[in-house]
Amino acid sequence: MPGRVLRRPSAKCTFSPIRVVRAAELALTAGLVGHAAATPYQQAHWAYALVELEDECRHSRMFARMIGTYGLRPRPPLWWQRLGVRIAAMLDDPLRLFAAALVVVELTDAFQRVAMTDETIHPITRQISRIHVIEEARRIKYAREELKRQVVHRSAVRRRVGGAMMARLTRTLLDTMIRPDRYRAVGLDPEFARRTALRSPHRRQVERWALAKCVRFFHEVGMADGRARAAWVKVGPLPDELARGDR
Ligand SMILES: [Fe+2]
Repeated sequence: MPGRVLRRPSAKCTFSPIRVVRAAELALTAGLVGHAAATPYQQAHWAYALVELEDECRHSRMFARMIGTYGLRPRPPLWWQRLGVRIAAMLDDPLRLFAAALVVVELTDAFQRVAMTDETIHPITRQISRIHVIEEARRIKYAREELKRQVVHRSAVRRRVGGAMMARLTRTLLDTMIRPDRYRAVGLDPEFARRTALRSPHRRQVERWALAKCVRFFHEVGMADGRARAAWVKVGPLPDELARGDR
């Protein structure tokens, strides 16, 4: 990882991303319900989806309890988070569902792998990070296998359109991880700090590092090549060899 990004953050700063992840996990859970409903229950894929649902419901409870344990004021989800859950519940496209799951899970996984061994992070956060990393390893494998199964039946155009949508989703997630008012909590002007952070080369480098595995996989399955590649270049987190066009 380039440099360190988790340096004794205040509790409020730590939980700004956790709240985004909690909303994203609920949106993916809603999508998984739709996927299970559309899958014949005789198929093993139906059972796989239900196992993932069980895990994700438990994770949502775990993160909510974590926020409560630290004594932070529960905040209602923002309007776009509520909208995201509703849209995910209505989506009937496993390709976008599993691709979005990979974006969220791999992004979270990268930072939690750092958090779980960082002695400056509170032990409860470290332990919860460790639990989530271990349990999400299975989910990453599941989402990758399901996505490989989905791309076989899609034309190159549909794969790339899906890839470009994931690039947009990725940028939105990255830009909303830290709410501007969190900067105020550490004595910074929220708007100035937000604009500065968005332009930071270090931040771009960290984003590229966190998403490298995910974007390489999208490239392998035809969701980051052709015109989709341009969308990923615009978003930023393209690994060096893909940005140079070596592959
Ligand atoms: Fe999870």
